[in-house]
This record gives sequence, C-alpha cells and structure tokens, in this order.
Amino acid sequence: MNLVKFRYQIAVSLFCSIFFLAGFGLASDMGTFVEKTCTKCHSAKRICLNLGVKSGPAWKSTVEKMVAKGAQVAPEKIEGVALYLAGANPDSSVLCR
Ligand code: HEC
Repeated sequence: MNLVKFRYQIAVSLFCSIFFLAGFGLASDMGTFVEKTCTKCHSAKRICLNLGVKSGPAWKSTVEKMVAKGAQVAPEKIEGVALYLAGANPDSSVLCR
C-alpha cells in the first residue's frame, strides 16, 4: 500500500467516525429533547406504547398533531423527532423507563 492511499484511508475513516459520533450525540440530545418536550401533557408511556409500532411517516403526523395541540417543536425539528421515534427501541428507550 502506498502512502497516499494510506493517508486517504485515514482521512476517510476519521471523516466517518466524526459523523458516527455526531450521530450518537444527536440521538442522545434528541432523546433528552423528546423526553422533556413530549411529557408536558401526558406521560412518556403514551409514546413508549407506540415505539416499534408507528412507522416514520406515522410518527411525523403524530408529532405534527402534537405541535397543533401545543407541543414546542420547531418546524425544522419535526422530521428529526419523527426519525428518532421511528428508530427508538422500546426495550432500551428513555421513554420506556
Ligand atoms: C400540548 C400537549 C401535548 C404535548 C406537548 C404532546 N402531546 Fe401527545 N397527546 C396530547 C393529547 C391531548 C393526546 C390525546 C389525544 C389524541 O390521541 O389525539 C396525545 C396523545 C399522544 C399519543 C397517542 C395517540 C396517537 O396519536 O398515537 C402519542 C403517541 C403522543 N401523544 C406522542 C407525543 C409526542 C411524540 C410528543 C412530543 C413531540 C407529544 N405527544 C407532545 C397532547 C400533547
């Protein structure tokens, strides 16, 4: 393996791990945000019961419905919240404690 190729691989793997770690950071920030924002009117149990049940688009319309009721989620954050909920595992989610 030549040096240029090697450096390229280092750069690529550094690049990927930054995104990987950022993804983790975002996911846990999102967990805290959802836990705080979505338990103002009802318990987290209500959300927990739907984890692994609703799909991404279903979560998006649920979140939009909650925003219409008064949930404090910025419009640009709705998609992210929906993705987080669609990917959350009921066995390990903070919403199911
Ligand atoms: C302003 C108060 C309020 C906030 C904040 C709120 N909800 Fe709700 N939520 C409600 C009410 C009222 C109901 C019951 C009425 C209904 O089912 O339409 C409900 C019901 C639900 C249900 C069960 C019914 C369904 O459509 O599946 C889920 C899931 C849910 N909320 C998720 C969330 C999530 C996720 C958030 C955070 C983005 C959130 N809620 C924030 C008021 C709120």
